[in-house]
Amino acid sequence: MTESTPTYLPRLATQLNTPITIGGKTIPNKLWLAPMAGLTHTAFREVLAHYGSCGLAFTEMCSAKAVPTENPRVSPVFRWHEWELPSLVCQIVGATPEELVIAAERVEREGFFGVDINMGCSARGMIKREAGAALLKTPGKAVAIVEAVRKAVSIPVFVKFRTGWSKDIEPAAALAKEFEAAGADCLVFHPRVAPDKRTRPPFIDHIRYIKEAVSIPVFGNGNVTTPQHCQDMLDKTGCDGVSIGRMAMARPWLFAQWTTGYTPDENIFQDYVLRMATALEQEFDPIRGIKRFRLFMAYFAANFRFGHSLLAKFSTAKTMDDVRRMAKEHIIPDMALSQTPNMNLYNL
Ligand SMILES: Cc1cc2nc3c(=O)[nH]c(=O)nc-3n(C[C@H](O)[C@H](O)[C@H](O)COP(=O)(O)O)c2cc1C
Repeated sequence: MTESTPTYLPRLATQLNTPITIGGKTIPNKLWLAPMAGLTHTAFREVLAHYGSCGLAFTEMCSAKAVPTENPRVSPVFRWHEWELPSLVCQIVGATPEELVIAAERVEREGFFGVDINMGCSARGMIKREAGAALLKTPGKAVAIVEAVRKAVSIPVFVKFRTGWSKDIEPAAALAKEFEAAGADCLVFHPRVAPDKRTRPPFIDHIRYIKEAVSIPVFGNGNVTTPQHCQDMLDKTGCDGVSIGRMAMARPWLFAQWTTGYTPDENIFQDYVLRMATALEQEFDPIRGIKRFRLFMAYFAANFRFGHSLLAKFSTAKTMDDVRRMAKEHIIPDMALSQTPNMNLYNL
């Protein structure tokens, strides 16, 4: 495995390894895993923990309506390992203060590090239900939600949000101020307008407006795939830390690589797929497991120059035994890495 860009920047590592306190609780580093539906499930988080050094992980979004009555032993989404709780934030998504409060109370009772309110998801179904990024259309309601959740729980309250429905950053900065006044402990900002499906680059500079508007920590998010992107985001915007989404699926060891200088050996890609197969098998029934494997595979395949053909091969896998056999056959040490993730796969 050859890398042509540096995978460790000492200044970045020093910056990321400075602990940060959010709502009175301290986190050892400032490189976090972003929430991703269908991807940041327990199985993936178990593999992530094996490679180590992720400061704080976020669950995939959990429906606030479902959370109060959800059984973690059977729910594919509202599910975790006890050992994760001290560094795991549960993300909830909903439309009203009432439903989000009841969900946040359950999240607190279960012992999560914190609760994150999703104000970024712009999937059609979510917008129809007036949840996720739809809340940014009604700032008064968005703030009322943060205020109500803040009053209901004492764990840290996070808000993950986007720019909103127009490119103008001023309303987002004003909203950030209101979130802070309503009692949010940390903002994670993804500088894209809500209808943008990640096909265009995010407006990284806009993170600075949010950072300058508030005194609580602000984490930046969006298209960070290399340590240099991460350093640039910190330098250009003054944000406190960085939240990584898709690249964490492609290479979950990046947290260790960027913060400790960990150097993976040439079998790391195969090792990762084999670990994912085992973890998915342990956490999900065979049908759910293989569906989640396929979703994961698109981001994994984006690592490689011939990612499309790798994805096509794995799409025929019906069982985890097929996956293991294919991994041993096709994921080999001298595969050509793509300089940057293959965006056609990355944006699936
Ligand atoms: C498949 C997928 C699912 C996602 N699900 C969620 C989600 O459940 N909650 C959320 O706040 N953001 C979600 N996101 C957005 C990511 O958290 C992140 O903001 C976005 O991918 C940009 O960061 P990245 O370029 O590092 O991937 C999702 C993104 C992807 C690709």
